[in-house]
Amino acid sequence: MYTKADILLGLQWGDEGKGKIVDVITPSYDIVARFQGGPNAGHTLEFDGIKHVLHTIPSGIFHPHVQNLIGNGVVIDPIVFAKEIKGLTDRGIDVRERLLISKKAHLILPTHRILDAASEAEKGKAKIGSTLKGIGPTYMDKTGRNGLRVGDILEPEFEARYESLVNKHKKMLSNYDFQYDISELETEWMAGVNLLKSLRIIDSEHYINDALKNQKKVLAEGAQGSLLDIDFGSYPFVTSSNTVAAGACTGLGLAPGRIGEVLGIFKAYCTRVGSGPFPTELEDETGEKMRQIGREFGSTTGRPRRCGWLDIPALKYACMINGVTELIMMKTDVLSGFETLKICTHYKLGDQILDYMPYDIQDNKVIPQYIEMKGWNQDLTSARTLDELPEELLAYISFIEKEIGIQITYISVGPDRTQTILKEKVSA
Ligand code: GDP
Ligand code: IMO
Ligand code: MG
Repeated sequence: MYTKADILLGLQWGDEGKGKIVDVITPSYDIVARFQGGPNAGHTLEFDGIKHVLHTIPSGIFHPHVQNLIGNGVVIDPIVFAKEIKGLTDRGIDVRERLLISKKAHLILPTHRILDAASEAEKGKAKIGSTLKGIGPTYMDKTGRNGLRVGDILEPEFEARYESLVNKHKKMLSNYDFQYDISELETEWMAGVNLLKSLRIIDSEHYINDALKNQKKVLAEGAQGSLLDIDFGSYPFVTSSNTVAAGACTGLGLAPGRIGEVLGIFKAYCTRVGSGPFPTELEDETGEKMRQIGREFGSTTGRPRRCGWLDIPALKYACMINGVTELIMMKTDVLSGFETLKICTHYKLGDQILDYMPYDIQDNKVIPQYIEMKGWNQDLTSARTLDELPEELLAYISFIEKEIGIQITYISVGPDRTQTILKEKVSA
């Protein structure tokens, strides 16, 4: 009998607080495994007064006795990766003991990063707002069957294959009016590859299935968010991987029947970084207030995040695609001090009332339809139990649970590990 793996993933446009919650629930697991994305992710963890931002390494890394796996669905930039390892080693974390890397994970080359930048520069105003980490070009090479994988670095002909792919990229770059110099990046990249070689590179699909067979508890950690999914996000303003639950199957080698709980994480409001549709965006003082209180600036790029009210149709959609079984609400403390809170329950498009985002949302601006709820003034950051929460917040929570039809099991009231309230699941 196999045990089932749980998945934790973002239900909005990323930065929901995945890193924090993975860290909080890791003590219940034996293995934490990232299944997609790469250094476009920035997962923040805070404890003992220190803040850590992880990009490629799973957020269970701070817990001894837990194995952290970088799955085949992830793309790794050896340069960023080496910096991450150094940061952790400097903090006394024995990364070598706790980290495993799939042979089948793809490598981000310096030229992938340059192609990303060249493509974005050419798009001008129509740019995706990519993190410029080379994500799109690397996944293109993966699906185009040109990519280099972690397992390849152990082969004698690796350098020749690297050269051949770089030459292909140089040809592609000659179509752009874009200046670049890769010599320094290349030296750093090769040093990163050497570091990778010294780590535990494995056939991770066997590892993870054997673990489930041996009754180990596995948590699959998503990156980005469901609305940035390559298939179900607001295409083309998306990332290049499947961020939804199905991505955990392909990104780790887990059969669908081996999935247990799907923990869907969302902010008590919405944010988005980069371009693309955002129906409930607030381009006014209220949005600015959320940005300042919530410190809504990107963990990877430092860019200001766009802010807006909670969007129920978008959340319902994400829950449907992912088969979410439990909800986790983040950054609740940020909403303290707003006299009135709005929640979007529907959209209006012409005369039509919609409860989902239309296919052509880029061209047709939908008008969000809101309900209003009374806000609260109380500082929540020291609350640790449900009975310390104001009744207006409890009403906000109940409204969301009723609309979505799924219970919220954690409420986060601050960035620190301890600023988390458990709300027991009530059986129906
Ligand atoms: P991730 O990409 O989903 O892991 O999220 P990020 O780390 O990019 O962004 C979430 C940000 O919110 C980080 O700066 C966290 O430290 C912070 N954060 C997480 N939970 C809370 C919370 O409940 N309240 C507040 N105020 N900040 C939080
Ligand atoms: P985490 O895991 C928020 C956004 C970018 C851009 C689009 C495509 O920290 O939640 P890409 O570099 O992937 O080609 O960019 O996706 N994006 C994120 N936004 N959080 C992230 O990750 C993101 N990763 C990518 O801003 O709009
Ligand atoms: Mg982030």
